[in-house]
Amino acid sequence: MKNKFYITTPIYYPSADAHIGHAYCTTMCDILARNKRMRGFETYFLTGTDEHGEKIQKKAAEKGVSPQEYVDEIAEKFRKLWAAMKISNDDFIRTTEERHSKVVQSIFSKMLKNDDIYLGKYEGWYCTPCESFWTETQVGEEHLCPDCHRPVHKAEEECYFFKTSKYVEKVTKHYQLNPKFITPVSRKNEMMNTFINKGLDDLCVSRTTFNWGIPVVENNKHVLYVWLDALCNYITALGYDTDHPELFNKFWADENCEIVHVVGADITRFHVIYWPMFLLSLGLRLPDRVFVHGLLDLNGEKMSKSRGNVVSPFPLIERYGVDTVRWFLAKEFSFGSDGKFTPESFAERINIDLANNYGNLVNRTTSMISKYFEGVVPELKNPGEKEKEIRELTKKTVKAYENLMDDLKISEALNEVVNLLNVANKYIEESQPWVLSKEGRVEELGNVMAVLVSSIVTCTKLLSPVLVETSEKVYKLFNLTEEQKSYEFIEKFCGFTGNNVEKGAPLFPRLDIKVETEYINSLTK
Ligand code: MSP
Repeated sequence: MKNKFYITTPIYYPSADAHIGHAYCTTMCDILARNKRMRGFETYFLTGTDEHGEKIQKKAAEKGVSPQEYVDEIAEKFRKLWAAMKISNDDFIRTTEERHSKVVQSIFSKMLKNDDIYLGKYEGWYCTPCESFWTETQVGEEHLCPDCHRPVHKAEEECYFFKTSKYVEKVTKHYQLNPKFITPVSRKNEMMNTFINKGLDDLCVSRTTFNWGIPVVENNKHVLYVWLDALCNYITALGYDTDHPELFNKFWADENCEIVHVVGADITRFHVIYWPMFLLSLGLRLPDRVFVHGLLDLNGEKMSKSRGNVVSPFPLIERYGVDTVRWFLAKEFSFGSDGKFTPESFAERINIDLANNYGNLVNRTTSMISKYFEGVVPELKNPGEKEKEIRELTKKTVKAYENLMDDLKISEALNEVVNLLNVANKYIEESQPWVLSKEGRVEELGNVMAVLVSSIVTCTKLLSPVLVETSEKVYKLFNLTEEQKSYEFIEKFCGFTGNNVEKGAPLFPRLDIKVETEYINSLTK
């Protein structure tokens, strides 16, 4: 198993404000990064903004500001959102930074020298929003972009081409030898059928019809194609091809580092076809995985600003707290499938998992320990069958959780923890502490409390990559020492004897579904 982990989000277009869909992708990457860090993997987590291209230039002109001013403002909003969402990224790269643009220019020069890039002329169908050229067959009779299904127009341009034919076999071979390279596997089939098997054209990697881009040093009529520029962020941010390549050597160049790109289904093609080709051209290793997550819609409709159905995460964080929003995103949708965001599902999810299950368990346990044991965790003595069963289940849960997280199955991993929480709640019903207390069966009562505390702390640790604030609150409620807080301490079942326990306010108040549905709906108008 590799002991380092490098995870990236797509770099977002600062062409409109971030919405819950962007927050979804970044939060999932954050959870994976926090999970690995917690378990001792050396981890690097990158996000950023993709700031060049025709679309941005047009938007800036519409607003009457320079493209740089335009992207500065929106990039700042992205940063603020990530701070509010408690995203633990190690770096935030912007493609207008010199540390990026200079290296991309030298990457282009290398490719030109290698004979992987040549100057030619392009005639085809162009989709402005996707900044992509398409062939006659690809746009069909209706002349619609195969990616976004918007109308395309005929265009002709002198441009530099990247020789895809030189690498296509190597890339498809890589898919065969590395079955997890593109996941879910259905995405791989889609790429093969829609693009590769139909025959790939050489890729146009420069533009002359606008100038908001990185200039080609060798020919300043041209700016670099936004995707060649953007994809390279994954290595420029690490200092590739500079005099300070430490991070690049430590993460990208080390075979012991697992490299994972998480991308939305809309940009799979660029990450699994062209990006590997660019890397091969540079003589660099390929990432281990490109994980394609599904897209979220709102009440069954594609989220888009023009339709006025975009939800911003800010008011949700303000009203419900950041952990609640993170939990909803992580648990409600199976990572890899498309998801429907509905206001009802938000409130229901929070009530079921956080208020009724986790929050309730913590609340009941701290109350009982304060009532029966003056707020001090009792010792586990002569555990019975039920206690042993829970110990076994805890071990199994931890193993399953780790395996699922390593396989990027976030909601499934969380399900394992939710199951243990359910079992712990049921254990209260079955062991009836109030009867044990009445009958003076102090040892048994103590065992129940010790096991409950252990289950709560274990679950809290496993949930801590998602519930970043709540986990700290719970550690405080149980007055955990630094050692008890460590991940390794999970192995020590019931190691909390003598800890003082505080009785706190409920962690997650129950939400009124009707009221909250109305509130969330009002945000989208
Ligand atoms: N700039 C390019 C990516 C370059 S990566 C080298 C881009 N940017 S984007 O802002 O349009 O979208 C990037 C990503 O945002 C998507 O791939 C996806 O991960 C996320 N999402 C945008 N809308 C989304 C939803 N409605 N639902 C889920 N994720 C969404 O493409």
